[in-house]
Amino acid sequence: MKNKKARERGTMKALILVGGYGTRLRPLTLTCPKPIVPLCNKPMLMHQISAMAAVGVTEVVLAVSYQPEVLEAELKPYGDKLGVKITFSREDPDHPLGTAGPIGLAKDILCEGGEPFFVFNSDVICSFPLKQMLDFHRSRPAERRAQGTILVTKVTDPSKFGVVIYHPETDYHIERFVEKPKEFVGDRINAGMYILEPSVFDGDLIAPRRMSIEREVFPVLAARGTLYAMPLEGFWADVGQPRDFVKGTGLLLPQLPECDVNDHDATKTRAAAEGWTCVSPVLVDPSATVAAGAVLGPNTVIGPNCTVGATARIKNSTVMRGAAVLDGAYVADSIVGWRSRVGRWAHVVNMTVLAENVKLADEVYANGALVLPHKDVSVSVPEPTIIM
Ligand code: GDD
Ligand code: MG
Repeated sequence: MKNKKARERGTMKALILVGGYGTRLRPLTLTCPKPIVPLCNKPMLMHQISAMAAVGVTEVVLAVSYQPEVLEAELKPYGDKLGVKITFSREDPDHPLGTAGPIGLAKDILCEGGEPFFVFNSDVICSFPLKQMLDFHRSRPAERRAQGTILVTKVTDPSKFGVVIYHPETDYHIERFVEKPKEFVGDRINAGMYILEPSVFDGDLIAPRRMSIEREVFPVLAARGTLYAMPLEGFWADVGQPRDFVKGTGLLLPQLPECDVNDHDATKTRAAAEGWTCVSPVLVDPSATVAAGAVLGPNTVIGPNCTVGATARIKNSTVMRGAAVLDGAYVADSIVGWRSRVGRWAHVVNMTVLAENVKLADEVYANGALVLPHKDVSVSVPEPTIIM
């Protein structure tokens, strides 16, 4: 009864494993912590937090191992709007607690209402079927109550993930969980999103010391038969590296209400009025300026206060707040960081990442260049290189 009431009020908790600085998303993360790098014009973490809020989560603990001030300032307004309290749980950066220890550290908050709680890795996005996940979790057989439910997806190279072996023909309980298998054991992997019951803390199975949930907790729950796999039907993407970030953007875009495919033609009407072409899916911040003759999309995001010049062509790319892509420039499969400038007739291709405040001169060709913040680039970069 208590739980039912709590559910109606919405008092569910969640924890996001935020961890370190996100070195694999350099050079963007040299000037911005990974969790707030904008993905589809919103801090990356907010996609997870919005999905959690939609199913009644009222408090999200961010488990971090560095100063959370910048994160706090950026995320708080979003949290307030959603009615979600965002709390920080900080580890000693010299002694990070792994993927289970931070859950142990936040035990008191997570167990407050006696409800199950969510745990997410911070670097993953998906179609977020959290309601289905809760229903699935709560409907496991009485003789084998779920202590945990893991969202699983299918990949072609499972060796970099946690592999989940389960039985779709029975009750979906997980027989084995193998983190980063050396040999092939299956291609269904841990998508990095879980529901756990407060009982997982019993007997210090999860404690506030350095622990891996994948190596120390899931195998134990699997052996008990109380760990379940819910297959994910929609898309899934790891957004921790530039290539996956660009791909993830294209997958996430069509499901956002503000994307042109869902905004009741607002973007198309704007494009027609301003004389540019919108190739769906496209997301253009209302404060951005797009000149006539430009062609945007597919899979393209233009951030706040950006400028896109006449006849510029941008596809499969993200342009972040305050950046400019000048007349006749071509940008494909790339990221243009905050306040950067792509010169006229420049050619930016093949996973080029311009960090914050980079100036690419007119007519320059950048092929897979990773350009560090505040650099001026005036000669072409014909092969993938880091420009320091
Ligand atoms: N607070 C905190 N402290 N967070 C941490 C720590 C830590 O010491 N170590 C890692 N994290 C966070 C990371 O920031 C990330 O959000 C999450 O925990 C998982 O760590 P990764 O380093 O990204 O692990 P992975 O990608 O190799 O593997 C994990 O994710 C896969 C799905 O992407 C595992 O959970 C796999 O089983 C899973 O398949
Ligand atoms: Mg990861």
